Amino acid sequence: MLHRKMLQEIAWADFQKLSLAEKAPYFVQSSGRPYHCVMAQQFDREMLDHLCDLATRIRRIGKSKQGMDYLSTLLKNKRAMLYFTQPSTRTFLSFYSACQILGIRPAEVRDPDISSEAKGETKEDTIRTFSSFFDLIIMRTPMQGFAEEMAWMISNTDRPIPIINAGSGKDQHPTQALLDIYTLARSFEKRGGIDNKTVLFCGDLARGRTVRSLSGLLMNYTNVRQIFAAPECLQIGQDILDRLKAAGIEYEVTTDFKGKIPEADAIYMTRLQDEWGDVSGPPYKPEDYFFTGDDLKVLKREGIIMHPLPRRKEISTECDNDSRAVYWRQVRNGMWIRAALIATTFCRDDEITQYYMLNNR
Ligand code: CP
Repeated sequence: MLHRKMLQEIAWADFQKLSLAEKAPYFVQSSGRPYHCVMAQQFDREMLDHLCDLATRIRRIGKSKQGMDYLSTLLKNKRAMLYFTQPSTRTFLSFYSACQILGIRPAEVRDPDISSEAKGETKEDTIRTFSSFFDLIIMRTPMQGFAEEMAWMISNTDRPIPIINAGSGKDQHPTQALLDIYTLARSFEKRGGIDNKTVLFCGDLARGRTVRSLSGLLMNYTNVRQIFAAPECLQIGQDILDRLKAAGIEYEVTTDFKGKIPEADAIYMTRLQDEWGDVSGPPYKPEDYFFTGDDLKVLKREGIIMHPLPRRKEISTECDNDSRAVYWRQVRNGMWIRAALIATTFCRDDEITQYYMLNNR
């Protein structure tokens, strides 16, 4: 468990110089629960197991009307701002739904051109304004490091409230990684869990923040091998490889996606992130990095195919009805794990567990 450090006790200039591991304790509560959720590196195995177990309890409690009624009382006194200035379907709606499940009243700003940012208000002042009305800010932004900076900023005001990073720049998407971990854990429940598995990442690994965050969370598990398959111009960043190497984790970097499919327990496909512009490098054939119906034949019988979505052509729709395709389950898992994260942030997790033990075992 991480031991809390106070964001109020460090200047922003000094905080920025810390490594990710050094920053992580500043985002947790004294109990070890997350306060701000900013980066994958703030979650250890204990907290990941806790959130996955809690998500399952919330999911099962939510199957009955009585259970849903109970869940909706938990955070009835809270309001959340969903500040999404980058496009989103799943993350936005799953957070919105998670808030509703827990009784939180959500509000949204999705277009800064119709907020006072259009009049020249800074993003910092915008966030501070939100904290005057809301108890939680969930934000998606194209700016790398912005959620982290706002977490520091808001913690140094007289109305600190939790900030959840719902995707920041090309760098972090910690709650997508949480739902990916929950999906992996559920998929491998009867096969010893996530430990000792091989995860094959494919696609735009250079700019895919979901891969960067998930790679970080997988470091909490024992003997998980990570393979990065991409054309040279879209290959995973050296910073991720350096982190894996320093932690003694087995990894492989390759251009041969198709050749690696038989080795994988989980295949994590991603789309070309061309909203970030062009990349330079040797030409490649996009279809070499697509998963098709033919590839199902060489995928392990108990292997799984994942995708954070949205997809383009990286996974052929003919795979959708194969029991190993879990990307639509990932979408729904996102709602449950985000509800678990919010409930834990507001310290209602133990109460949910007690209710579950009494009513759902
Ligand atoms: N996976 C994901 O972040 O999807 P959205 O962009 O639709 O939120």
